[in-house]
Amino acid sequence: MEPNPESILLTGRTALVTGAARGIGRATALALARFGADVAVCDRLGEELEQTVAEIKALGRLAPSAVLDVRDTDAVHSWITELSDEWDHLEILVNNAGGGFHSPVMEVNAKGQAALIAENFTQVVDVTRCCVPLLAAGAIGPQGFGGASIINITSVEAHRAGPGFGIYSAMKAAVANMTQTLALELATQKIRVNAIAPDMIPTPGDGFLTQESEALSGTTWAQTPWPETGHAGDVASAAVWLAGPMSKFVTGTTVHVDGGTLASSGWKRPLDGGPWVL
Ligand SMILES: NC(=O)c1ccc[n+]([C@@H]2O[C@H](COP(=O)([O-])OP(=O)(O)OC[C@H]3O[C@@H](n4cnc5c(N)ncnc54)[C@H](O)[C@@H]3O)[C@@H](O)[C@H]2O)c1
Repeated sequence: MEPNPESILLTGRTALVTGAARGIGRATALALARFGADVAVCDRLGEELEQTVAEIKALGRLAPSAVLDVRDTDAVHSWITELSDEWDHLEILVNNAGGGFHSPVMEVNAKGQAALIAENFTQVVDVTRCCVPLLAAGAIGPQGFGGASIINITSVEAHRAGPGFGIYSAMKAAVANMTQTLALELATQKIRVNAIAPDMIPTPGDGFLTQESEALSGTTWAQTPWPETGHAGDVASAAVWLAGPMSKFVTGTTVHVDGGTLASSGWKRPLDGGPWVL
């Protein structure tokens, strides 16, 4: 395919975004709709999800929705079954829902650990398993889009230590690994599987980022190598590219939307313009 400006459009595609009431999920759902996709959305926050739905519809796109907890496999399964009555194909799945709480690993109790594993790993696999038949239909459907795309939102913490967020980080690393395995297992069905690893994106759920900002206020270090603040739209932009044919030969990889955090690997940029230090 020779790319042209139209290649980025998602017209005629259907997408599903989990955790779309707020933050990165909301920005991604709206971006997919702006580029032409109909977008099914779910979240456990009903009121805020309604706002996302209204904005997708205002763009002239369909937005079937469900208020549910993605860890509730039965609820997810019945919603996807219901959805498949309406849509017999799906081209894009964004596994965005996730999160956690601050606690050293040794202080996380069994219930907390199970919740973090379910929230950041198990549900991602379950939602994916539920959606693959629809994605397989989307990949070979009459629209001839030439492939479907799964996008897993992981974290920079999938690729480095996560003190205070150890279980969350380990589960994000598990999703990064699962992304690679599924990329191979689903390749012959023409379903691509990639991850986006954000860092330092201000959202309502960026507890760590807020904490970090407070800890850093009055210090001399920049939060990221890149000298500007990230935005949920930066993650959404990467998702739009991974969703469509512009990335048709890209599978099993991670796009790092982190302002250079992973690359810095301990290097710090002094705010006074001085040389980088370790
Ligand atoms: N913001 C960042 O800098 C950053 C960094 C690394 C990774 N991430 C990842 O990006 C994703 C989105 O995070 P965000 O910053 O937008 O957070 P957020 O809290 O602002 O948004 C998350 C959304 O997902 C929903 N959600 C979470 N768990 C759910 C569940 N079990 N069932 C249904 N809905 C659920 C929430 O209600 C919320 O609407 C998460 O997977 C997070 O781990 C974010």
